[in-house]
Amino acid sequence: MAPALLPIPAGLEVPGSEHWPFVPVASIAEVEPGSMRRLTRGDLDLLLVDTPLGLCLVDDRCPHMAAPLSLGSLDGCVVGCPLHRGRFDLASGEVVQFPTTGGLDADGGYHAPWAPPGGPGRAEPSDLKARARSLTRVRRIRYYPLRVSDGVIEARLPG
Ligand code: FES
Repeated sequence: MAPALLPIPAGLEVPGSEHWPFVPVASIAEVEPGSMRRLTRGDLDLLLVDTPLGLCLVDDRCPHMAAPLSLGSLDGCVVGCPLHRGRFDLASGEVVQFPTTGGLDADGGYHAPWAPPGGPGRAEPSDLKARARSLTRVRRIRYYPLRVSDGVIEARLPG
């Protein structure tokens, strides 16, 4: 039986991917249950994830500052970034935990830097580096369409 594919959240397919061909990216036999695997194709670094709701393929780049999510954690459908503790739900494409640096969400809303619960709040950014963090937008995760054919996982990728 073909493995389940995670339904791509509405509007979050990689733009233009409907015009790209399906190409093989991995064998089903290579996928460990509950695993994340980095796949590099040309200059694309991709992340194949086996979630409880099915397989998905996204960029292996955090939607915050592009850290490789493959070095992070996977808890069910939630992938955690190794850099600033951002956590993202692959089932919905939504942020579960905003990066500790704060900054802008995908809709442009501002989030203050993270402070430990019960601890003193952190000062608003003032130096240039902190100001850059405050203006960094956490983009939405984008998904590459998948299909499975004869035990091979295929993805729509640019030619
Ligand atoms: S780069 Fe991932 S949370 Fe900042």
